[in-house]
Amino acid sequence: MKTKKYYITTPLYYVNDKPHIGHAYTTLAADVLARHLRSRDIPVRFQTGTDEHGSNIEKIAKEKGVAPKAWCDGISADFRALWKMLNINYDHFIRTTDPSHEAGVQAVFERLLKTGDIYMGSYEGPYCSSCEAFYDEKELKDNLCPIHARPVERVSEETYFFRLSKYEDALLKHYTEHPDFLSPRYRAQEIINFVKSGLKDISVSRTKVSWGVQVRSNPSHTVYVWFDALLNYATGAGYNPENTGPDFAALWPADVHMVGKEIFRFHGVIWPAMLMALGLELPRKVYAHGWWTINGDKMSKSKGNFIKAEDVVREYGVDALRYFVFREVTFGQDGDFSMEAFRRRYNSDLANDLGNLFSRIMNMAAKYLDNRLPEKPEASETFRELSSWTPEIHRSIESMQFSDALEKIWQGVSILNRLVDAKKPWEMVKTDPAALKLFLHETVWCLRLIAAWIDPFMPDTASRMHLQLGVGKAQDGTPPQKVPPLFPRKQDEAKKP
Ligand code: ME8
Ligand code: MG
Repeated sequence: MKTKKYYITTPLYYVNDKPHIGHAYTTLAADVLARHLRSRDIPVRFQTGTDEHGSNIEKIAKEKGVAPKAWCDGISADFRALWKMLNINYDHFIRTTDPSHEAGVQAVFERLLKTGDIYMGSYEGPYCSSCEAFYDEKELKDNLCPIHARPVERVSEETYFFRLSKYEDALLKHYTEHPDFLSPRYRAQEIINFVKSGLKDISVSRTKVSWGVQVRSNPSHTVYVWFDALLNYATGAGYNPENTGPDFAALWPADVHMVGKEIFRFHGVIWPAMLMALGLELPRKVYAHGWWTINGDKMSKSKGNFIKAEDVVREYGVDALRYFVFREVTFGQDGDFSMEAFRRRYNSDLANDLGNLFSRIMNMAAKYLDNRLPEKPEASETFRELSSWTPEIHRSIESMQFSDALEKIWQGVSILNRLVDAKKPWEMVKTDPAALKLFLHETVWCLRLIAAWIDPFMPDTASRMHLQLGVGKAQDGTPPQKVPPLFPRKQDEAKKP
């Protein structure tokens, strides 16, 4: 048997519109974790993709006057292009229109029809097409969808049901026995209460939506888009109840499903129940993070109040965005996205603290280390102190406490800045050249440490730093080089001409 890979997923994003910072956030978080684990030689499988079926997409394609598949092709490609721009290194991009996924969904449906976990009935009630979700009357807010604040449709049709109610006790037992399954912990109670309040069977097919996976044994039905989309995590790893691929055993169960908090219930309740019905192991963890808001309102494609990652990247670069989203807000919590805050952090943390430190030290190293590689400064207290932080930084990343990791790293940056200010190396040039060399050996090695730490967050900056710090390339590396600024300072908006 092949060794189990650490399997990380993001939600499959709807292709109703182009991606924004919110989608980038989840996919970046998965990328940070994946890069970190790979750097520790842990084999990783990172899957993302697009969710392409359902009434909402059908409607949008119609409005645009294009065939649904052509519409999906376009937006799905936009997602992939953005991931490329953001330096996101996924292993597999799945589309719910992939034939192997569709075949898997059909086979699952037939399997559960056979076991009796899916049965025929009829449904009447409110439906939000932006969520693609059925609601209870009592869940609506002023008759509007509680998430999108939009009018809901009234649906009344023959439908297949999934026997969710049957799994109530098994789910509660699983939550108790696996306290990390619903993460972060402060979000778990909401799910537990929901399950405790009693689960109803859910509708899993539509007769009035033709853009979907057809039920094989009854083609007048298409599979409900969430039932279809959730299965991606298994089908994308090779699962098909009639013909499972060889890689599945090395991938399943998923180690973490990263999701936004509004879809925690789908992943924390419906998905595990589906897996129980299929006799598959449950994922080890579902991690629900918070929302990026704009003036307190959730950034959303349906509301149109979003910031595009491309716009931020054009002005500040990819790594500044990758840094900001994980430093500004504790992963898990909501946070307001403001370009003022972005510019402030860019100038203070990146241009000033890290960028200046790096160029000050590297320029002196290039000048005074006579083109020699710095030796490891065994006697340096600062280097020893910083080195001892590595396990803590790793633990923070592994527990998705990304802002803690970055805070700690920037503590290191400020220790080094203070050291430069205190030791005044520019004076040592004349007074004590030997001490200057020692000092540069010490600080270059500390910067190597910092570059390794920031690598999962800012891979491009880390490799520029490494290159100039003489790490990597050849066996012993190239000697320190003079460098252009890592993060050129941006003028304050107010001071712009
Ligand atoms: O829900 N802040 O797709 P979706 C933070 N297709 N994260 C955000 C965000 C925001 N303002 N906006 C979006 C769907 N996200 C389904 C999922 S999975 C089998 C099917 C991120 O296009 C966050 O991860 O609405 C959220 O859960 C996801 O995008 C929703 O993307
Ligand atoms: Mg959404």
